[in-house]
Amino acid sequence: MTLDPHAALHDRALIIDFGSQVTQLIARRLRETGVYCEIHPFNRVDEAFLSEFAPKAVILSGGPASVKTAASPRVPAAVFDLGVPILGICYGEQMICAQLGGEVERSDHREFGRAKVEVVKDTPLFDGVWDVGSSYQVWMSHGDRVNALPEGFETIAKSDGAPFAAIANEARRIYAVQFHPEVVHTPDGGKLLYNFTHNIAGLSGDWTMAAFREEAIADIRRQVGAARVICGLSGGVDSSVAAVLIHEAIGAQLTCVFVDTGLMRTDEGEEVVRLFRDAYNIPLIHVEAEDMFLGKLAGVDDPEKKRKIIGATFIDIFEEEANKIEGAAFLAQGTLYPDVIESVSFDGGPSVTIKSHHNVGGLPDRMNLKLVEPLRELFKDEVRLLGRELGLPEPFIARHPFPGPGLAIRIPGGVTKEKADTLRKADTIYLDEIRKAGLYNEIWQAFAVLLPVRTVGVMGDERTYDHVLALRAVTSTDGMTADYYPFPHDFLGRCATRIINEVRGVNRVVYDVTSKPPGTIEWE
Ligand code: XMP
Repeated sequence: MTLDPHAALHDRALIIDFGSQVTQLIARRLRETGVYCEIHPFNRVDEAFLSEFAPKAVILSGGPASVKTAASPRVPAAVFDLGVPILGICYGEQMICAQLGGEVERSDHREFGRAKVEVVKDTPLFDGVWDVGSSYQVWMSHGDRVNALPEGFETIAKSDGAPFAAIANEARRIYAVQFHPEVVHTPDGGKLLYNFTHNIAGLSGDWTMAAFREEAIADIRRQVGAARVICGLSGGVDSSVAAVLIHEAIGAQLTCVFVDTGLMRTDEGEEVVRLFRDAYNIPLIHVEAEDMFLGKLAGVDDPEKKRKIIGATFIDIFEEEANKIEGAAFLAQGTLYPDVIESVSFDGGPSVTIKSHHNVGGLPDRMNLKLVEPLRELFKDEVRLLGRELGLPEPFIARHPFPGPGLAIRIPGGVTKEKADTLRKADTIYLDEIRKAGLYNEIWQAFAVLLPVRTVGVMGDERTYDHVLALRAVTSTDGMTADYYPFPHDFLGRCATRIINEVRGVNRVVYDVTSKPPGTIEWE
């Protein structure tokens, strides 16, 4: 590995991943308190890595394995020799015990969900957060449990299901908890992690977006030199923030290309042009390609075929435009840290492709371009903070994510201009009602889906035979899992009435109450 240039300038924490579903949340909690951290899979962490990365603190994630199984993952021995503070979470605690001479057993009493822990000893981990003798809510998710502690360790909190709910060896600054401090259901978890990183490990919390902006600008200048950079804008927050940051670094060496597929939401295309060309004065090529996309999609109703057609058409158009820009040597992308993290898949097998996501991934090879990816170290929330730091307008920053294939995957079956227009109108009304109700920022994503199903209705004295429209709204932290949003019924009723009254072609509205999994967020 080569240490990231930003990482090199900051105190670093290392999160070793053992396959937990929520490892990324540990990183996000740490980043929120100004700690630069990276996640690396346990089987990539060796002495050479540790000496280069030189963490000031190490956190061992949870994971689905059992230390009672011979082939299960273990903490690389070199980690214990570093002499820096270590915090084990769940499976992390069990490995610490198993590897340092304690005992772990399979328990009859499995604990999943909310639990109470009682603090039995004052420690720097609980300082200013939890008091001895009081009980606090935490989130547990474990089958095995610690049965005997290694030498030098003592219990600092207990629960009914886990007598060793939190343990410590203060001389060696090794701490471990059976519960998950990184999830919101452990309300004080963030503060405990803060105590660990800032007070116990002495990290300074110097990772701020203001510092990142300066460093990233210097970095982009170093990487790009006098060459020209092309950036594909999608209207989304990631590519927009990347473009504005790069523009700040290299000014007119950057040209943005915005391919309007005709499958965007109401006014979205014009807003992108206004913001970049007019407000930021960034050279922008605006390609209006609605006819081409709709032409190629005509009569195609298989979701994967639709996605592939849109992806390929996008690349063709983008390449044609980019080839006109002389001296272009770099392609800018809004890649984020979650795309970079290599997470451990437990059975070691490749994960199944559920949907082929649309991006410009095929381009750099085909066009012989090098990549500029200034957001590679950032989580989505950090990109939003950086966007604010760069002065991007708030509505742009807070916008719900929008998929590359756009409305085409919200029109199951064949896509036509008429259907796209109908969907756009309904979607605008729905989002308008959500904003009026003050709910926009509570929701990860909300949108309408125009179904290929027609039903009978009655409007005035007339029989109607029109489309069904589904409304979808979900909460999520990263789009990987999601819950449907529990709107009040009167809100849904109000949306249905307005949509049916104002949008010709829709005579019935339904609300989608599927979570992910088993559903996905988009319908295709
Ligand atoms: P799913 O439908 O897979 O969506 O649960 C998860 C998140 O990804 C977005 N999405 C996409 N984003 N290109 C994108 O840039 C795509 O092809 C694509 N497909 C889905 C979706 O809107 C949600 O936020």
